[in-house]
Parts: sequence; C-alpha cells; structure tokens
Amino acid sequence: MTVFKIGVVTGSIRQGRLCPKIVQYIVKLIESNTWQKDFALYTIDLKEWDLPLSTESTIPAMIKRSDDYEHECTRNWSKEIYNYDAFIFVTPQYNWGYPAALKNALDYLYNEWANKPAMIVSYGSHGGSKCNSQLEQVLTGLGMVVSRSNPEIPFPTRKQILEGVPENFNFDDIAGIRNHILLSTEELISNL
Ligand SMILES: Cc1cc2nc3c(=O)[nH]c(=O)nc-3n(C[C@H](O)[C@H](O)[C@H](O)COP(=O)(O)O)c2cc1C
Repeated sequence: MTVFKIGVVTGSIRQGRLCPKIVQYIVKLIESNTWQKDFALYTIDLKEWDLPLSTESTIPAMIKRSDDYEHECTRNWSKEIYNYDAFIFVTPQYNWGYPAALKNALDYLYNEWANKPAMIVSYGSHGGSKCNSQLEQVLTGLGMVVSRSNPEIPFPTRKQILEGVPENFNFDDIAGIRNHILLSTEELISNL
C-alpha cells in the first residue's frame, strides 16, 4: 500500500514564534486519528531552510527538473518539495496577509507544488481569515488542489499577546477547532 507523504509547512520564521506549538498540536491531532489512506506527516520548517529572497532568472513554471535551477539552494528546495504528495500550510496572519518568508518559499518553485492537494491552517487574534483567503488564492494560482474548508485558529488573542500565552495552552479548548482540522484533513486526504 502506498504511504503518502504530507509536508507540514511552518509559515513563521521569527524569533520566539508560536508556529511550532500550533504545528505540534495539528500533527499530534492528525496522527492520533485513523484514516482511510496511509500517510505520514513531515514538518518542513522554513526557519531551518533559511531561504534567501529568490533571485532565479528563469520563471519557475518553465523549469521541469530540479537540476535546471541556477542556485544550489533552489535545487535543494525543489527536490525537497517534489518529495511530498500534499501539504498543510500553517500560517500566522501578519498585517492582514501571510508572512513574506512563506510567499518567498512558494514563489521559488511552481511544478513542485502544482496539482498537489493543500490545506491551510491560519491563526491570529480572529483566526487570520484574511491571510487564509489570500493564501488560498495564491495556492490556487500555483495549480494546487486547495481544501474548501480551511481552519482558522483564534490564537493568540489580544489578551494572550498582552498577558502572555500560557505554557500549557490547550488548543482543544477552542470551540470547534479540533473537528474543523480533522474534517479539513479528511478533505485533503480525499484529494490524494
Ligand atoms: C509583523 C506582525 C504582524 C501581525 N499582524 C497581525 C494581524 O494582522 N492580525 C492578527 O490577528 N495578528 C497579527 N499579529 C499577531 C500575531 O498573530 C501573533 O504575533 C502570532 O504569534 C504570530 O505568529 P508567530 O508567533 O508564529 O510568528 C502580527 C504579528 C506580527 C509579528
């Protein structure tokens, strides 16, 4: 039986980011359920990749093989993304959009993303709906098959930002979020 590989992309790279906490919750939640298809989740940490702003001269959509890119970092990034069958993008909302590091990581490539299922989990004080829909548009532009229902986690709230996020914060306490992530994952998997 095929074991699909799903990459979980961390949208934030800033010092002190909350993104890994949310990725950890999502991965644990998905892994603790049973699914109709066999798959494994892998975190793709943009902070570890530390990609510079892309300066490739050829439009990525024109490139069919990883080795045809100019720069070594692009060739490595291309091979990494070719590896996966689907993606979960976990992104904070920054000034009503999603982080520049995530846009840069996406714009590096094209065919590596195209035709693959994608799901978005956004977060922010009101769930990050604006960055969620902006990212949905961009992923659609990349030819990805984006889930129709993408969870928005209202975290961190303004109060949490002012007073500090509790160390042992339980995302299950946010009404409906657990079910929404599971339903969206089901849709993602059905598109594999
Ligand atoms: C540059 C920047 C812009 C932000 N803009 C928004 C925003 O538009 N809406 C919102 O709800 N939160 C906003 N926030 C608060 C973030 O939701 C919060 O800091 C969150 O922890 C960011 O995710 P991260 O810690 O993984 O980077 C912003 C934070 C930063 C650093």
